[in-house]
Amino acid sequence: MEKMVIEGGNPLRGNIRISGAKNAALPIMASCLLLKGTSRIQGIPELTDVKTLCEILINLGVKTERCKDHTLEITVQDDSNVTAPYELVRTMRASICVLGPLLGRRGAAKVSIPGGCSIGPRPIDLHIKGIKALGAEVEMKDGYVIATGKRLKGTTVYLGGVAGSSVLGTCNILMAAVLGEGRTIITNAACEPEVQDLANFLNKTGAKITGIGEKTMIIDGVDELHGTEYTIIPDRIEAGTLMIAGAVTGGRVVLQNIIPGHLTSVIDKLVEIGIDIQTRTISKGNSPGKNVYECIVESNGHFNPVNITALPYPGVPTDMQAQFTALLSIAKGVSSITEKVFPHRFVHVAELNRMGANIRNDDAVSIINGVPSLSGTTVMASDLRASASLVIAGLVAKGVTEIRRLYHIDRGYEKIEERLTSLGAKMWRERE
Ligand code: EPZ
Repeated sequence: MEKMVIEGGNPLRGNIRISGAKNAALPIMASCLLLKGTSRIQGIPELTDVKTLCEILINLGVKTERCKDHTLEITVQDDSNVTAPYELVRTMRASICVLGPLLGRRGAAKVSIPGGCSIGPRPIDLHIKGIKALGAEVEMKDGYVIATGKRLKGTTVYLGGVAGSSVLGTCNILMAAVLGEGRTIITNAACEPEVQDLANFLNKTGAKITGIGEKTMIIDGVDELHGTEYTIIPDRIEAGTLMIAGAVTGGRVVLQNIIPGHLTSVIDKLVEIGIDIQTRTISKGNSPGKNVYECIVESNGHFNPVNITALPYPGVPTDMQAQFTALLSIAKGVSSITEKVFPHRFVHVAELNRMGANIRNDDAVSIINGVPSLSGTTVMASDLRASASLVIAGLVAKGVTEIRRLYHIDRGYEKIEERLTSLGAKMWRERE
């Protein structure tokens, strides 16, 4: 196993290009199960989660070909298999996103039920509710969800759970319904940009989806979908993470390939914390959605305390909660972070406290008493965003930080140490 070693205290300076969004790429890749012909998708990040999904797709008779410049070509060659086995699904809970397209196109799906993880329980009741509403027969057996339904029938389905909408739940019902008969209306649909990207991709393949980005989505079933060319949106969570990494070190970074509109709540909080953020339009496309932007993030290393609540989009994303916690641990005063999406997502807190932070966590709320500085030590990554928070803490800590269980970070941040080193960070990998 590898560990990351970081020598803290070096301000980050320079330009960095944001990758395509992991959480848009995964459902879009899965949705290719619905298509006839080849799709050529640009902006696919080089991540272990992408590799895992490729393995699942290959096992389902799909040819996946990595071309240069983050492009992936995907073609269904054999649609007889409908099983996503435990050995492949267990490493990535997002694998559940093959359920909807398998059912929608092949009339059956047998997908291993994802277990919980360090961010808390990961139920799939809304996914099941949605496909049942579309007429599928569903059985939970031997750790698998087994669903059958020859041609699903459009209906109205409310996709709300205890924590509100579900991102992959909405993606799955969308993918199950596009080849269904008649009209499906999803109410309380997730509005996240990644769900919008999936819907925009599917419309390019011939689907009829309206209400994209709204709480009510309407899907009019079509008989066939075809391969297309598409570019994945920039990763708003990678962008937000790099904004905090630049700011925490008192540096100046220019983020290229960014959609600031996807980061409104994050930028708003960073400005309240005292970070200067300027957005520039680099070139205008045919519509505002196609404009290319860059964002200049600059800080003097002094941070105000703030109160944050992690909420579904357009609120502050839960996927940024741990990174904000690392930043606020050195703010001047007391901050709070309330987690409304995954109320158990706080494993990073104990590790940050080992680095000298003073954070108390109780009932989905972290109270962060800012300290003057953090100090490097050995810490353990527990999930993807927790790893990102430890990297941020390591960049600003006095001395050397070693992050163990590094494989988590490679699930969601492409070549992180290479890219941060290019900005002036001192960090490298070593074998444990
Ligand atoms: C997606 O997970 C993301 N993953 C997560 O990112 C992200 O944290 C999450 O959405 C919330 O934004 C991918 O897109 C691959 P949810 P998802 O269903 O879809 C509850 C990362 O670090 N719920 O929107 O699995 C659930 O327990 C990852 O990149 C139900 O109750 O999350 C949670 O409280 C981690 N029943 C809330 O809804 C269900 O059937 C939101 O979960 C499904 C979910």
